[in-house]
Amino acid sequence: MASRVLVLISGNGSNLQALIDASRANPSTLDASIIHVISNKKTAYGLKRAANAGISSTYHNLLAYKKENPNNPQEARQAYDVDLAKLILAQTPDLVVCAGWMHILSPAALDPLKEAGVDIINLHPALPGQFDGANAIERAYEAFQRGEITKTGIMIHYVIAAVDRGTPIIVREIEMIKGESLEDLENRMHAVEHVEIANGTRMALEEREKNKQTSE
Ligand code: GRF
Repeated sequence: MASRVLVLISGNGSNLQALIDASRANPSTLDASIIHVISNKKTAYGLKRAANAGISSTYHNLLAYKKENPNNPQEARQAYDVDLAKLILAQTPDLVVCAGWMHILSPAALDPLKEAGVDIINLHPALPGQFDGANAIERAYEAFQRGEITKTGIMIHYVIAAVDRGTPIIVREIEMIKGESLEDLENRMHAVEHVEIANGTRMALEEREKNKQTSE
């Protein structure tokens, strides 16, 4: 039976689309079903992509939690993450894929997934240990202009509480090109992401299957 994959998004959702397409192509590309999408942004275009593909989705809104805890943003995030884990687990996924998900996941979200045996991976547009966090492509581009780096890359990695620092599953280096615009670099990187998000998801599911067999 195809594995159950839940996808977290915040924006355009082109990587979600790549996953949907791969899961609906040959099962050797990705033997998985995208069962649900959660967005922390109401206007994320990825929500439309999910609807167009007949996939259910949830908008999980941090602002509502901030309103309930106006003087304690930490508590608001904690409560948000607790409920995020509940929303995820209610869908009984095997694997969660963060595909352009722009919200840092705290142990309040990660621990319940771990306890339930649900793996979680993330796509990050930088090489391991370089440009953690937001705007990684722009920061790499600027570093190249300053002559500090000659290549950047993308990775798919397991998610831990430290942002963009979990064990890598796939690392793909991308050479920087002199005179290239930021937009062209972004497009080149997205093209690599769209292939590797499906490969990384498949590899995480294969690893999960292997671990299940050895623990049986
Ligand atoms: C990707 O570049 C991803 O690596 C980054 O945000 C972008 C999301 O793009 N973290 P999309 O929403 O999948 O189109």
